[in-house]
Amino acid sequence: MDLDRTVRALRAAGCVFAEDEARLLIEATSTGSSVDLDTLDALVARRVSGVPLEHLLGWAEFAGIRVLVDEGVFVPRRRTEFLAAHAAELARETALMPGHEHPVVVDLCCGSGAIAVAVRESRGPSAPAAEIYAADIDPRAVASARRNLPHPAIVVCGDLFDPLPRTLLERVDVLVCNTPYVPTDAIGSMPPEARLFEAALALDGGDDGLDVQRRVAAECRAWLAPGGHVMVEASSEQAPRSVELFERAGLRSRVEYSDDYDTSIVVSTNPR
Ligand SMILES: C[S@@+](CC[C@H](N)C(=O)[O-])C[C@H]1O[C@@H](n2cnc3c(N)ncnc32)[C@H](O)[C@@H]1O
Repeated sequence: MDLDRTVRALRAAGCVFAEDEARLLIEATSTGSSVDLDTLDALVARRVSGVPLEHLLGWAEFAGIRVLVDEGVFVPRRRTEFLAAHAAELARETALMPGHEHPVVVDLCCGSGAIAVAVRESRGPSAPAAEIYAADIDPRAVASARRNLPHPAIVVCGDLFDPLPRTLLERVDVLVCNTPYVPTDAIGSMPPEARLFEAALALDGGDDGLDVQRRVAAECRAWLAPGGHVMVEASSEQAPRSVELFERAGLRSRVEYSDDYDTSIVVSTNPR
C-alpha cells in the first residue's frame, strides 16, 4: 500500500513525523482516489535527501492557515505564531481608536508573508480590514508573499524600509518584523533543512544575531504613528539586548515570553 511504503521510506530517512508527512505527500499527489506514483516517488526521494516538507508541498501551516511557500523561501515557524498573535492583538486594539479603524500593518522581512496573512485573517469578515503592507529583500520571498497577500495588500521588494511608500511615514500602527537573528557562528549547527534549503539571508543575523534589528530600531520611529508598535522575535539571551536597542531609539520596550511556543518577542511602543 502507498501509505505503508511511503512511511517506511520516510522513517528510514529519520523523519520524526513520517506518518503525517506520508499522508500529506500522498494527498499532494492524488487526484480523486488515484495516486500519481511517479510524482509521489520523486517527492519522497527529495524529502529523503533533506528538502523541507513544506517546500515539496508548496505550503506551510501557520496559525491554522495554509500559507504558500516557494522553494528557497523561509518556512514560517510555529513559534512565530506568538509574534503574529501579538501583532493581531495590537492591530485589534488600534482599530478601536477613532481614526484608526483600518490599522496600518507592515510585515517587514516578510518572507512568505505568513505573519501578515495571520493578521489579515484574524480581523474576521465583519471587522474593518487592516491596511496591509509587506516587504522583503529576496525576490523569491516577495513572489510567495504576493500570492499569499493579493490586492489590496501591497508587497514590495528591497532593503528594509527602502521600498515602502513614503506615504506610510509616521502612519504605521503595527510594524512586525521577524528579522534573521541567528548569530553567524551558530548557522553551522542549524538543522540541514534550514541551512541547506533556506536562504542564508533569511537566517544570518551577523555576529550577535542582531544586525538587522539594530537597523530596524534605528529607522523605525520615522515610520511609526504616535502610539504605534514595533515587534520582533529574539532568543531569550538576545531579548534584553534587543530591548536596549529599541529603548535607545526612544521607544518603550518590553519582552513577552511564551512557554507554549518556547519563544520570546520584544514589543516596543512609540510615545504619543
Ligand atoms: C527569519 S525570515 C522571516 C520570514 C517571515 N517573516 C516569517 O516569519 O516566516 C527573515 C526574512 O528577512 C528577509 N531579509 C533579510 N535581510 C533583509 C533586509 N535587509 N531587508 C528586507 N528583508 C530582509 C529574508 O529574505 C527573510 O525572508
